[in-house]
Amino acid sequence: MTDKTAKLTLPNGETLELEMYAPTLGNDVINVASLVKNGLFTYDPGFMSTASCESKITFIDGGKGVLLYRGYPIDQLAENCDFMEVCYLLLNGELPNVDEKQAFLDRINNHTMLNEQLTHFFNGFRRDAHPMAIMVGVVGALSAFYHDSLDINNESHRVKSAFRLLAKVPTIAAMCYRYTIGKPFVYPRNEMSYAENFLNQMFSMPSHDGKPDPVLVKAMDKIFTLHADHEQNCSTSTVRLAGSSGANPFACISSGIASLWGPAHGGANEACLRMLHEIGDVSRIPEYITKAKDKNDPFRLMGFGHRVYKNFDPRAKVMRDSAHEVLEATGKNNDPILKVAMELERIALEDPYFVEKKLYPNVDFYSGIILSAIGIPMNMFTVIFALARTVGWVSHWTEMIAEPTQKIGRPRQLYTGEKQRDVEDIGKR
Ligand code: SDX
Repeated sequence: MTDKTAKLTLPNGETLELEMYAPTLGNDVINVASLVKNGLFTYDPGFMSTASCESKITFIDGGKGVLLYRGYPIDQLAENCDFMEVCYLLLNGELPNVDEKQAFLDRINNHTMLNEQLTHFFNGFRRDAHPMAIMVGVVGALSAFYHDSLDINNESHRVKSAFRLLAKVPTIAAMCYRYTIGKPFVYPRNEMSYAENFLNQMFSMPSHDGKPDPVLVKAMDKIFTLHADHEQNCSTSTVRLAGSSGANPFACISSGIASLWGPAHGGANEACLRMLHEIGDVSRIPEYITKAKDKNDPFRLMGFGHRVYKNFDPRAKVMRDSAHEVLEATGKNNDPILKVAMELERIALEDPYFVEKKLYPNVDFYSGIILSAIGIPMNMFTVIFALARTVGWVSHWTEMIAEPTQKIGRPRQLYTGEKQRDVEDIGKR
């Protein structure tokens, strides 16, 4: 709260005094909740200037390219912590000590398996189904199995659902991939780390032993950390809105997965790599830069631009460094697609159109290159994003449910349709 207020003078000369709240970091906010009592709504399509909630989880300074998870800079977390520590931090507000981390891992490991009935659920999908379509369905279907953790007003149920979701999304994600390529499902191995377990379920074969490459495991773990949370982005806002009705956590996370799928959001990593392959060679980059700048062409440079970042996305910087490490480790550092990406980034960052509009590479620009080098197919990229973002969604869902003043989200509208009129008999229409 601040002692500042905002004055709003209405056309009839009346002046409204609106409360203002000061954040720890970022913009002051004006409380407009009282406007409806004066017969007024605010109007803000896309919520460009709207704070939908109060949160303590993540902060972005778009102008400076800063991303903090519970106050810790993303580059420090990516360098010094693993994804399980980041999950603990996002959910609990502090980084774990050794004992707290082990207890967290043990609890995750109690829930990595799926009810065996769910394996039959996959058989209802076509083999060529997009893995995101399967992921949305199977995660939502978890609410058909785990009835002992659906009471959102019971904290132990909320915590149990949180652990079930964190533990099972890698298992489900890997099963989505294995199903679409006709390979047998691989059970989780609890002696493995979270990222190693996931890669093992993705790529191991019953016909021969083998463990995931530690370099790729480290890269996968870092990708999970970089995608874990991002304030009130489209999919997180979807989860919060779904949760505000009292829907169970599995259904809410399924709605977040559906929302993330869009190419303007989490689907951009797949769209970006498809774009890089379509460009194919550095000689064709100018043609695509021209298309991206053409107002009459719907083409946009995938992996560029951001609603909040008007500077480098700090995740893109970490991702770019990791891309070089992974391509080196996999002997793909002459990958022509990396050359196209690097040259595209260089050209775009010098082009006045992108400079004036503050369009920089975002988290999705390099992630596809790394995921490809790890051996993950393009149609699985957004599934990986959903897997990583589950902890962010669950953290925000938990924060929202625990908010004493929490109420169902129900926006209003600017109605420009027909005034009331009477129905005519069909013979007279
Ligand atoms: C994610 O919100 C989050 O935090 C999301 C995310 C997360 O972690 O949750 O960070 C993950 O979704 C990253 C963004 C991934 N999407 C893409 O890479 C798709 C390509 N980017 C664009 O679609 C776009 O930049 C958005 C959707 C990301 C942001 O769009 P905004 O904020 O609505 O901005 P805008 O569309 O109003 O663009 C402003 C101007 C426009 O030109 P004018 O109308 O002002 O003339 O910039 C142009 C746009 O045409 N523009 C682009 C562009 N992005 C914006 N022009 C060419 N290529 C682009 N990529």
